[in-house]
Amino acid sequence: MIEKIKKLARIKLANNDDAHGFIHVERVANLAEEIRKHEGGDKLIIATASYMHDWCTSKGRAYHVGEEAMREIRADLTTLNFPNDSGSLEAVIDAIRNHEEYDFKKAGKKFSKECQILQDADRLDAMGAIGIGRCFFTTAKLNEPFGTPEDMSKLGEDYSVGQITSGVRHFYTKLLNLKDSMNTEYARNLAKERHDFMVEFLDRLKLEWLGKI
Ligand SMILES: [Fe+2]
Ligand SMILES: [Fe+2]
Repeated sequence: MIEKIKKLARIKLANNDDAHGFIHVERVANLAEEIRKHEGGDKLIIATASYMHDWCTSKGRAYHVGEEAMREIRADLTTLNFPNDSGSLEAVIDAIRNHEEYDFKKAGKKFSKECQILQDADRLDAMGAIGIGRCFFTTAKLNEPFGTPEDMSKLGEDYSVGQITSGVRHFYTKLLNLKDSMNTEYARNLAKERHDFMVEFLDRLKLEWLGKI
Protein backbone atom coordinates (compact mmCIF):
# COMPACT_ATOMS: atom_id res chain seq x y z
CA MET A 1 0.00 0.00 0.00
CA ILE A 2 2.75 2.45 0.92
CA GLU A 3 4.42 1.84 -2.47
CA LYS A 4 1.13 2.63 -4.25
CA ILE A 5 0.77 5.88 -2.31
CA LYS A 6 4.39 6.82 -3.02
CA LYS A 7 3.85 6.23 -6.74
CA LEU A 8 0.77 8.47 -6.77
CA ALA A 9 2.58 11.09 -4.66
CA ARG A 10 5.27 11.48 -7.34
CA ILE A 11 2.53 12.37 -9.84
CA LYS A 12 0.33 14.45 -7.52
CA LEU A 13 3.16 16.54 -6.10
CA ALA A 14 4.78 17.28 -9.46
CA ASN A 15 3.34 20.82 -9.37
CA ASN A 16 4.46 21.58 -5.82
CA ASP A 17 7.63 23.59 -5.36
CA ASP A 18 10.67 21.69 -4.09
CA ALA A 19 10.12 22.87 -0.51
CA HIS A 20 6.76 21.04 -0.47
CA GLY A 21 7.21 18.52 -3.25
CA PHE A 22 7.94 14.79 -3.33
CA ILE A 23 11.48 15.20 -1.97
CA HIS A 24 10.03 17.01 1.09
CA VAL A 25 7.28 14.48 1.82
CA GLU A 26 9.73 11.61 1.40
CA ARG A 27 12.03 13.14 4.02
CA VAL A 28 9.02 13.72 6.29
CA ALA A 29 8.03 10.06 5.84
CA ASN A 30 11.57 8.91 6.72
CA LEU A 31 11.69 11.14 9.80
CA ALA A 32 8.19 10.15 10.89
CA GLU A 33 9.11 6.46 10.65
CA GLU A 34 12.19 7.00 12.83
CA ILE A 35 10.06 8.85 15.39
CA ARG A 36 7.41 6.09 15.27
CA LYS A 37 10.00 3.42 16.04
CA HIS A 38 10.70 5.20 19.34
CA GLU A 39 7.30 6.64 20.15
CA GLY A 40 4.80 4.14 18.74
CA GLY A 41 1.80 4.84 16.54
CA ASP A 42 0.35 3.12 13.47
CA LYS A 43 2.95 2.62 10.74
CA LEU A 44 0.58 2.72 7.74
CA ILE A 45 -1.37 5.75 8.97
CA ILE A 46 1.83 7.69 9.67
CA ALA A 47 3.44 6.83 6.32
CA THR A 48 0.28 7.63 4.36
CA ALA A 49 -0.32 10.91 6.16
CA SER A 50 3.34 11.85 5.62
CA TYR A 51 3.21 11.29 1.86
CA MET A 52 -0.18 13.02 1.53
CA HIS A 53 0.09 15.92 3.98
CA ASP A 54 1.06 18.44 1.28
CA TRP A 55 -1.22 16.86 -1.37
CA CYS A 56 -2.98 20.17 -2.15
CA THR A 57 -0.35 22.73 -1.07
CA SER A 58 -0.04 24.12 -4.61
CA LYS A 59 -3.68 25.31 -4.26
CA GLY A 60 -2.90 27.40 -1.17
CA ARG A 61 -1.89 27.17 2.45
CA ALA A 62 -5.37 27.31 3.96
CA TYR A 63 -6.83 25.11 1.21
CA HIS A 64 -4.42 22.21 1.86
CA VAL A 65 -5.86 21.52 5.32
CA GLY A 66 -9.43 22.47 4.38
CA GLU A 67 -12.41 20.26 3.73
CA GLU A 68 -12.10 20.29 -0.07
CA ALA A 69 -8.53 19.01 0.15
CA MET A 70 -9.69 16.35 2.63
CA ARG A 71 -12.35 15.21 0.14
CA GLU A 72 -9.71 14.91 -2.58
CA ILE A 73 -7.40 12.88 -0.34
CA ARG A 74 -10.29 10.66 0.81
CA ALA A 75 -11.25 10.01 -2.83
CA ASP A 76 -7.67 9.15 -3.80
CA LEU A 77 -7.33 6.76 -0.85
CA THR A 78 -10.60 5.08 -1.75
CA THR A 79 -9.41 4.65 -5.36
CA LEU A 80 -6.24 3.02 -4.04
CA ASN A 81 -8.38 0.63 -1.92
CA PHE A 82 -6.87 1.95 1.28
CA PRO A 83 -8.07 -0.30 4.13
CA ASN A 84 -10.75 1.31 6.25
CA ASP A 85 -11.65 -1.57 8.55
CA SER A 86 -10.88 0.13 11.84
CA GLY A 87 -11.23 3.75 10.82
CA SER A 88 -7.67 4.05 9.52
CA LEU A 89 -8.69 6.08 6.47
CA GLU A 90 -10.33 8.73 8.65
CA ALA A 91 -7.31 8.62 10.97
CA VAL A 92 -5.11 9.62 8.00
CA ILE A 93 -7.50 12.47 7.14
CA ASP A 94 -7.56 13.59 10.76
CA ALA A 95 -3.75 13.71 10.99
CA ILE A 96 -3.47 15.75 7.78
CA ARG A 97 -6.31 18.12 8.72
CA ASN A 98 -4.61 19.04 12.00
CA HIS A 99 -0.90 18.94 11.14
CA GLU A 100 -0.65 22.71 10.75
CA GLU A 101 -2.36 23.50 14.05
CA TYR A 102 0.05 26.08 15.43
CA ASP A 103 -1.33 26.27 18.93
CA PHE A 104 -1.11 22.52 19.15
CA LYS A 105 -0.53 22.39 22.87
CA LYS A 106 -2.69 25.37 23.72
CA ALA A 107 -5.58 24.27 21.51
CA GLY A 108 -6.89 22.11 24.32
CA LYS A 109 -7.73 19.38 21.82
CA LYS A 110 -6.34 15.90 21.94
CA PHE A 111 -4.57 15.11 18.71
CA SER A 112 -3.71 11.56 17.75
CA LYS A 113 -0.20 10.18 18.16
CA GLU A 114 -0.04 9.84 14.37
CA CYS A 115 -0.88 13.53 13.92
CA GLN A 116 1.66 14.55 16.55
CA ILE A 117 4.38 12.54 14.82
CA LEU A 118 3.49 13.98 11.39
CA GLN A 119 3.68 17.50 12.81
CA ASP A 120 7.04 16.81 14.47
CA ALA A 121 8.51 15.35 11.26
CA ASP A 122 7.15 18.20 9.11
CA ARG A 123 8.63 20.79 11.47
CA LEU A 124 11.97 18.98 11.75
CA ASP A 125 12.26 19.24 7.96
CA ALA A 126 12.16 23.03 8.36
CA MET A 127 15.20 22.87 10.66
CA GLY A 128 18.90 22.02 10.39
CA ALA A 129 20.80 21.91 7.09
CA ILE A 130 17.66 21.07 5.11
CA GLY A 131 15.76 23.85 6.86
CA ILE A 132 18.43 26.40 5.96
CA GLY A 133 18.28 25.30 2.33
CA ARG A 134 14.48 25.36 2.25
CA CYS A 135 14.39 28.78 3.89
CA PHE A 136 16.52 30.51 1.26
CA PHE A 137 14.89 28.54 -1.55
CA THR A 138 11.42 29.66 -0.45
CA THR A 139 12.50 33.24 0.16
CA ALA A 140 13.90 33.47 -3.35
CA LYS A 141 10.72 31.99 -4.82
CA LEU A 142 8.62 34.58 -3.00
CA ASN A 143 10.89 37.37 -4.22
CA GLU A 144 11.79 38.26 -0.67
CA PRO A 145 15.27 39.61 0.06
CA PHE A 146 18.09 37.39 1.32
CA GLY A 147 18.40 39.58 4.43
CA THR A 148 21.25 41.11 6.41
CA PRO A 149 22.60 40.82 9.99
CA GLU A 150 20.15 43.64 10.88
CA ASP A 151 17.37 41.10 10.36
CA MET A 152 18.73 38.95 13.18
CA SER A 153 15.86 39.69 15.54
CA LYS A 154 12.17 38.92 15.85
CA LEU A 155 9.51 41.09 14.33
CA GLY A 156 6.95 42.59 16.67
CA GLU A 157 3.19 42.30 16.74
CA ASP A 158 2.82 42.77 13.01
CA TYR A 159 4.21 39.32 12.22
CA SER A 160 1.71 36.75 11.00
CA VAL A 161 2.28 33.04 10.42
CA GLY A 162 3.37 32.28 6.88
CA GLN A 163 4.78 35.74 6.31
CA ILE A 164 8.44 35.86 5.30
CA THR A 165 10.18 39.21 5.40
CA SER A 166 13.66 38.06 4.48
CA GLY A 167 15.53 34.77 4.50
CA VAL A 168 17.59 35.77 7.52
CA ARG A 169 14.54 37.14 9.42
CA HIS A 170 12.61 33.92 8.90
CA PHE A 171 14.96 32.13 11.30
CA TYR A 172 14.00 34.58 14.07
CA THR A 173 10.28 34.73 13.40
CA LYS A 174 9.78 31.01 12.91
CA LEU A 175 12.61 28.52 12.51
CA LEU A 176 14.38 29.14 15.82
CA ASN A 177 11.07 28.68 17.69
CA LEU A 178 10.37 25.24 16.29
CA LYS A 179 12.48 23.29 18.77
CA ASP A 180 10.06 24.22 21.57
CA SER A 181 7.03 22.99 19.63
CA MET A 182 7.87 19.29 19.39
CA ASN A 183 5.24 16.85 20.66
CA THR A 184 7.39 13.76 21.19
CA GLU A 185 10.56 13.17 23.18
CA TYR A 186 12.49 11.60 20.31
CA ALA A 187 11.68 14.52 17.97
CA ARG A 188 12.66 16.96 20.71
CA ASN A 189 16.17 15.47 20.76
CA LEU A 190 16.50 15.66 16.97
CA ALA A 191 15.16 19.21 17.05
CA LYS A 192 17.78 20.27 19.57
CA GLU A 193 20.59 19.14 17.29
CA ARG A 194 19.06 20.78 14.23
CA HIS A 195 18.44 23.96 16.20
CA ASP A 196 22.05 24.14 17.39
CA PHE A 197 23.25 23.71 13.81
CA MET A 198 21.09 26.65 12.66
CA VAL A 199 22.44 28.82 15.49
CA GLU A 200 25.99 27.89 14.45
CA PHE A 201 25.14 28.75 10.83
CA LEU A 202 23.74 32.17 11.82
CA ASP A 203 26.77 32.96 14.00
CA ARG A 204 29.02 32.18 11.06
CA LEU A 205 26.83 34.10 8.62
CA LYS A 206 27.24 37.22 10.76
CA LEU A 207 31.00 36.83 11.10
CA GLU A 208 31.45 36.15 7.37
CA TRP A 209 29.17 39.11 6.56
CA LEU A 210 31.44 41.37 8.58
CA GLY A 211 34.55 39.89 6.94
CA LYS A 212 35.80 38.57 10.28
CA ILE A 213 36.37 34.98 9.12
FE1 LIG B 1 1.42 21.50 5.58
FE1 LIG C 1 5.10 19.68 4.76
